[in-house]
Amino acid sequence: MLAGQLDTLAREAARLQPLHLRELLFAPQRFEQFSRRAGPLLLDFSRQKLDETALQVLGAIAEDCGWQQRRDAMFRGDVLNRSEQRPVLHTALRAGESQLPSLAPASVTGEINETLLRMGRLVDALERNDVSAYGIPAGITDIVNLGIGGSDLGPRLAVEALRSYHSGRFACHFLPNVDGHQTAALMRRLDPRRTLVLLVSKSFTTQETLLNGAVLRQWIAQAYGGDATRAAAHFIAVSANIEAAGALGIPAQRVLPMWDFVGGRYSVWSAVGLVLALAVGMPNFRAFLRGAALMDDHFRSAGWRDNLPVLLALIGVWNRNGLGHTTHGVIPYLDGLAELPAFLQQLEMESLGKRVGANGESLRQATVPVVWGSVGTNAQHAFFQALHQGSDAVPLDLIGAVRPAHGLKDNHRALLANLLAQGAAFALGKTTQDALAEAVSGDAVERQALAAQRTFPGDRPSSTLLLDAVTPESLGALLALYEHKVLIQALLWDINAFDQWGVELGKVLAKSILPALSDAPVPESFDASTRGLIATIRALS
Ligand code: F6P
Repeated sequence: MLAGQLDTLAREAARLQPLHLRELLFAPQRFEQFSRRAGPLLLDFSRQKLDETALQVLGAIAEDCGWQQRRDAMFRGDVLNRSEQRPVLHTALRAGESQLPSLAPASVTGEINETLLRMGRLVDALERNDVSAYGIPAGITDIVNLGIGGSDLGPRLAVEALRSYHSGRFACHFLPNVDGHQTAALMRRLDPRRTLVLLVSKSFTTQETLLNGAVLRQWIAQAYGGDATRAAAHFIAVSANIEAAGALGIPAQRVLPMWDFVGGRYSVWSAVGLVLALAVGMPNFRAFLRGAALMDDHFRSAGWRDNLPVLLALIGVWNRNGLGHTTHGVIPYLDGLAELPAFLQQLEMESLGKRVGANGESLRQATVPVVWGSVGTNAQHAFFQALHQGSDAVPLDLIGAVRPAHGLKDNHRALLANLLAQGAAFALGKTTQDALAEAVSGDAVERQALAAQRTFPGDRPSSTLLLDAVTPESLGALLALYEHKVLIQALLWDINAFDQWGVELGKVLAKSILPALSDAPVPESFDASTRGLIATIRALS
């Protein structure tokens, strides 16, 4: 951002500082002015500490930065990921469901359509238990999705969120971590002869995934008296590294492609979503793509004032760079969306967790806040105390659905009542005067002390996102909304949102430490803490 833009934000923040959200929220037409709809999603940002002037300032910044040009450049397949010289075309993965003409190169959409057809045929064959043409043994009941980061979070979130759409044909399991406890537990639970492993890794070099892959292969081989070829028949790979998958004995027919133009955290729409397609069926997977395409079309056609992704991005920039909030909470009031905070942690923090710009120079402004969260109402009984009365305000996204996928009306009303109540409580708070009126016992000093503790400062911002219902379409739209929020914030912050060099160093160090955890000599070059901890582990293991 330009120094002038940051100054303007600071000025606007100072202007609004003395105004309490309580005052803003009772202004006439507040909800109508500060809420927008796109398809099955309603964004209410009337509880953000913003007024029309501040919103106008933010919109002008987006316009000055040329947000439409950046948006169109992405859809067109320009090289936005300059550090890796790659286009960014996750939107092409759902372009077939879009109402607008695709801007993506025809070669790309051709490969994508072909892969979707292959996925459809594979899902169909597995559903019908007619898989001999694929070399997969009949009788598969359990699917294990082996992948981490983007090869896990999106599919896991969607499989959980769309539980009411599950066909019930397969039980789907996820094994992201290299923690052997999970791997061992899964192997205890499942029948190796009835298990199909989806080895999902864009790079096919990820330690966790490859190690678990080798363990599961051995486990399946044991069930066939050590026959490695029969074990390999239980594997499907999804990867951009087709040769490496082949080298593991998985024939090309069972390798579905990924592409360099799709980042891992943006890949649930590709064959990375195979586990979702197996859980909910291909028509529902297509509906999920359709929901994302609906959000793409909205993003491509609405002006900034009505554009949900742009508004979400601007609200984030306002809270971070205007009001100086360092963290951002995501609270879905839906157990099915329990994985949404983790998904958004990767999407937002891996994309925007940078402190230098594309030209290598230090950025002027703070960038991504720490994203965190958990489901409501559980979170109310855990960390909400600090959100209400702690020293730091945390802007929140509160997310709910109007219509549940069950008939327990009282439960759902209670859930929604809590969602609405918390947003109001954060914004309005409770004055010391009101708290004093409640304090009936004790002398004046004691009553004053108690009232101070029972005061809620309020003035704590939140947005509410209401889905009409959790459906494949609305979930697709929700995830695409956040993807596009990231694109706009990356533009405003001058960040390449599509590389992730920051995760490399730890991976390299883990490789060098691994031998020292068995009996290799511990290099002198290791720091004191690493050496001390290795010695402790070696002594006790
Ligand atoms: O650790 C970072 C990361 O590279 C993510 O960006 C990615 O989603 C994840 O690891 C898994 O990578 P892969 O799909 O290549 O195994």
